[in-house]
Amino acid sequence: MEGFRITGGEKLRGCVRVDSAKNAVLPILAAALLPEGDTVIKDCPDILDVRAMAGILGKLGCVCEMENGVMRIQNSGLTHWEMPDALSKQIRSSIFLLGPILGRLRRATVAYPGGCEIGLRPIDLHLKGLRSLGVQISEEGGVIQCDGRNMRSGAVYFDYPSVGATENVMMAAALLPGVTTIHHAAREPEIEDLQGFINAMGGKVCGAGTPVVTIEGVEKLRGTVYTPIPDRIAAGTLLCAGAITGGEVELTNVRPGDMIPVMDKLREMGCRVREDENRLTLWAPSRLKAFSQLQTQPHPGFPTDMQSQMMALCCVAEGSSVIVENVFENRLNQVADFCRMGADIRVNGRTVVVKGVEKLRGLEVTARDLRGGAALVLAGLAAQGETFVDHIALVDRGYARLEHTLSALGANIERIA
Ligand code: EPZ
Repeated sequence: MEGFRITGGEKLRGCVRVDSAKNAVLPILAAALLPEGDTVIKDCPDILDVRAMAGILGKLGCVCEMENGVMRIQNSGLTHWEMPDALSKQIRSSIFLLGPILGRLRRATVAYPGGCEIGLRPIDLHLKGLRSLGVQISEEGGVIQCDGRNMRSGAVYFDYPSVGATENVMMAAALLPGVTTIHHAAREPEIEDLQGFINAMGGKVCGAGTPVVTIEGVEKLRGTVYTPIPDRIAAGTLLCAGAITGGEVELTNVRPGDMIPVMDKLREMGCRVREDENRLTLWAPSRLKAFSQLQTQPHPGFPTDMQSQMMALCCVAEGSSVIVENVFENRLNQVADFCRMGADIRVNGRTVVVKGVEKLRGLEVTARDLRGGAALVLAGLAAQGETFVDHIALVDRGYARLEHTLSALGANIERIA
């Protein structure tokens, strides 16, 4: 399988621009089904998950064209509501196509997306939210049939602030007469961006970023041109690359306000981080210090999508750190390979104790999920000798040409087919 070959030891230095956020673009592409008219997504990252989502929209009758980072979606061909099994299993995010398809066609059929490398990824909250809006849902043989012909606005309560379920209901309610209120909504910045996109199309959504999101249904939405927010996880990953190599990294096209927990932990580890309006600069110490503990939580807590990358830093920090993964039940996949590289890690359920070592040794490792793969790349940047990270198609799902970005910062990394 395609991999990255990395020769460790280079201190990363330089300035790179951060792409738009994968986890903002994916729901925005789904919401592009809602308007009568074309939408244009500017600064769209060319990553595998975006290509997969565009492929699904194509199968639903839309035309998606990506050129020079600009994605144009023509949805006039949206005629049928069945999502092909193979496609809906190709990318989990297809589940939040339910909302917009119901919003437009009042019917939807999708296969159970199933679990993935980091967990079972249930969709009970998605279905609970849609049922709260009067959608009749039957689940048989791994297929979910939704009948929204009697959909109505109303109140939705989420037992857990699920990002995708919040987005699904926002999109299902955007064209639903009346006012829909989501209680205990997810508060991630990507939720606010979806609100911004729907409102740019003439929608009336407010409260995103708070636990209560209100959607006043409108008659119709119109196409728009929209630039998604920067990717706070890609940005955090690049800051970690600077931190683990003792370097100095500057990022543009960032929103520091989206990255407070990550900057806090990096400062706790001895990094200096300067915040400007849409620029971040990190200076790393010669050796990182362990932080006492890190607990992943829904936003505004520490983001689970940065847990693996922080673990890579802990592997070579001075002292012991405790990491607790509270969001996903199987997001410690990279621990075994870190230990093979010489890390001292103890796992007890979702709690991990990492005792930092002076140096990791480079060897052949395998990406087992998107962020765990990125974390192995970070470990390779700091390791002695050569590291080969295999199965990097998982990393390409969320990072566009990561090897180019890291090479621009001075890393010795190349893609090996
Ligand atoms: C989004 O996934 C992101 N993906 C994930 O990023 C991110 O890790 C996650 O939010 C949390 O921030 C996209 O936005 C495309 P959730 P999502 O629903 O919506 C449980 C990455 O690396 N749950 O908030 O699936 C679920 O099992 C990816 O970029 C239910 O129990 O996350 C999990 O334990 C990984 N029932 C927790 O909630 C449901 O119906 C968080 O899931 C839905 C979720």
